[in-house]
Amino acid sequence: MISEFLSFLGQPTTRRSLRTLADGILLRCRLITGAEAGTIFILRRRGRSRRLQALAVQNDRVGVRRGAFELPLDHASIAGHVATSAAAVLIDDAYAIPPDRPYRFNGEFDRATGYRTRSVLAFPLLNVRGVVIGVVQLVNRRCDGVSGIQPFEPGHEAMITPVNAILSRALEQADAMERIAAANDKLRQRNRELRAERARVVGLQAETEEAYRLSVRLLARAAELHDDDTGQHIQRVGEYAFQLARRAGRSEAFCTEIRHAAQLHDVGKVSIDQAILKKPGQLNTAEFEDLKRHAVFGWEILRASDRLKMAADIALGHHEQWSGGGYPGGLAGEAIPIAARIVALADVYDALRSRRPYKDPFDHGRTVRIMLDGDNRIRPAEHFDPELLRIFRTHHADFADVWDRLGQEAAD
Ligand SMILES: [Fe+2]
Repeated sequence: MISEFLSFLGQPTTRRSLRTLADGILLRCRLITGAEAGTIFILRRRGRSRRLQALAVQNDRVGVRRGAFELPLDHASIAGHVATSAAAVLIDDAYAIPPDRPYRFNGEFDRATGYRTRSVLAFPLLNVRGVVIGVVQLVNRRCDGVSGIQPFEPGHEAMITPVNAILSRALEQADAMERIAAANDKLRQRNRELRAERARVVGLQAETEEAYRLSVRLLARAAELHDDDTGQHIQRVGEYAFQLARRAGRSEAFCTEIRHAAQLHDVGKVSIDQAILKKPGQLNTAEFEDLKRHAVFGWEILRASDRLKMAADIALGHHEQWSGGGYPGGLAGEAIPIAARIVALADVYDALRSRRPYKDPFDHGRTVRIMLDGDNRIRPAEHFDPELLRIFRTHHADFADVWDRLGQEAAD
């Protein structure tokens, strides 16, 4: 009998719930002693107080309710007294407990079910450190071949005592596993909440980014309308710049940023007199000097925000030339921000493809030849970043694709 007990306890506790384990232990305690009913209580902390929680309740005669019930940890009840004093209690008749005992039998269950509790054996469950972790309470012992309820004997407790420590440890382990599982559940729940929170923040960032992009488009559109350019010049410049940046191996963040920032390259034109912007013929020197100021005006509009840093660089630097012959700063080489060098090339390509007061629109082939070999206005080696020009030579088809997609309106 004891060896069967030990092999039951030896099974891994991870796959058994605390209640299943307590049920198994109680059943085996009853088999050893002949008890027809019993309860296993385990000590629980509830805030600052401690209580006995019934983990397993069995009765062969009457039905028992499944839900957990609890007792206060004091000497008033049999189980409470056993847990408090760490001593076993042997009672021959629950209804005839000597008055000098501190505990009383609670007859509530008997009254509710018609059951008659008589003999009781209750003993503490001690862990390896000798600390009480629970109570086993066995009720109404029956013996084969003998009628009626028999009293328990001191020897019954002694039969279980040798496995007490193992039994307690199994219960403690199962309890710990359940606590860990409960803690894990809490963590999982917290993780779900954090994921939801993160999704909300990402959503807000996306909304902010969308608002930024809309502002960029509107600002660019305002400049475009002021310039009376009804085509999609600004969008195309953004797309060429995006393609060229991608071919130049720039990061995804850079490429996305330049796609939008490039659209603001001429935003400073809102500060230029429309008579100059819309003049049908060639500009005279004074007018051209005035027009050139759009680079600085654009930079002044955009420099107010860190978020528009690239756009400000582009506005200021998109008319600079690699050799240093451009405006407004006469910067040369890598002193010109890379985003501005990219847009410079994109802007010239689009100007060549478009109709201007002083020229007809050119097709892609003629535009590429001018960009690579030059003409009376364009001197590629002086104007463009040689590395970007090398990439353009290989990938100018990207530019043709952009024009085919967004350029029809302007070509008409
Ligand atoms: Fe410009």
